[in-house]
Amino acid sequence: MSQVITQLSQLNFSLADLDEMPVPGKVMLVNPEFFDVEYIINPHMKGHIGDIDKAQAYIEWEKLKSGYEKLGLYVHEVPAAQGFPDMVFCANQSLPNITEEGKKQVVMSVMHAPERKGEVPFIKQVYEESSYEILHLDESEFTGFEGMGDAIWHFRKRLIWGGYGYRSSLDVYEHISNTFDTPVIALELIDPKFYHLDTCFCVLNQETVLIYPEAFTPNGLKLITSIFPNVIEANQHEAENLFACNATCPDGKNVFIQEGCVETNKAMEEAGFIVHEFDTREYLKSGGSVFCMKMLLW
Ligand code: ARG
Repeated sequence: MSQVITQLSQLNFSLADLDEMPVPGKVMLVNPEFFDVEYIINPHMKGHIGDIDKAQAYIEWEKLKSGYEKLGLYVHEVPAAQGFPDMVFCANQSLPNITEEGKKQVVMSVMHAPERKGEVPFIKQVYEESSYEILHLDESEFTGFEGMGDAIWHFRKRLIWGGYGYRSSLDVYEHISNTFDTPVIALELIDPKFYHLDTCFCVLNQETVLIYPEAFTPNGLKLITSIFPNVIEANQHEAENLFACNATCPDGKNVFIQEGCVETNKAMEEAGFIVHEFDTREYLKSGGSVFCMKMLLW
């Protein structure tokens, strides 16, 4: 049965009522061999066509990769595909799930930008080889769904936070909720600079989220604060220019974030998190950072 919550009045559960989920132990990364800015599909990409330092991008990606290895995650490296400069952002082409019975499934995305549609079959192949059940959305019914860029699992709970407005449409979440038998709290995004939910919303652990509040409606903020007892807010500079909220916290303790997010890091450290800074400056030119450069898998 599907349950998509867009209003506080529809919220009929608290965190304690939700079923548990295992913590993903694997991370998928796509090699940045063909990473570049070749077209403009978000405001951050403006002025950056042809401006990528490829060698620097490679160094940054390698450091991120070894960061995951040091954290004890199994890294599944996927080769790049020529002609798809954004494929390195592998949070976007899919949304995986593990059922209560331990069955692995994935819904493949319907990329909003025509330039990125061709990435999906490559990522699908990875799931096929990892024996996931592959599920597809009807492209004639849904205009966009960009996977974990917009649909973010709560930490260790069967709950999905679903962003909509730019790349994913609200109506897709009925389908996702039904397919994964999981409630979805849908959050409208209202600032084009924060075009994916993962640019303004980062689940740190079960009780804590890092957000950029101005990217949400008052209604969305009420939904966020009614589930998370601890809300850390990034300031405009760190959220907009350093993608502070595109951080990731795979184990509920260690946070990987773009370097220089001084205020955000201070707040996270005060809340007990261990912060690891990474330089993703080449990827920021494309409108992405740490979170969207990976996919966590079971
Ligand atoms: N250039 C890419 C795009 O606009 C960046 C994607 C970043 N992904 C993310 N989940 N924020 O699609």
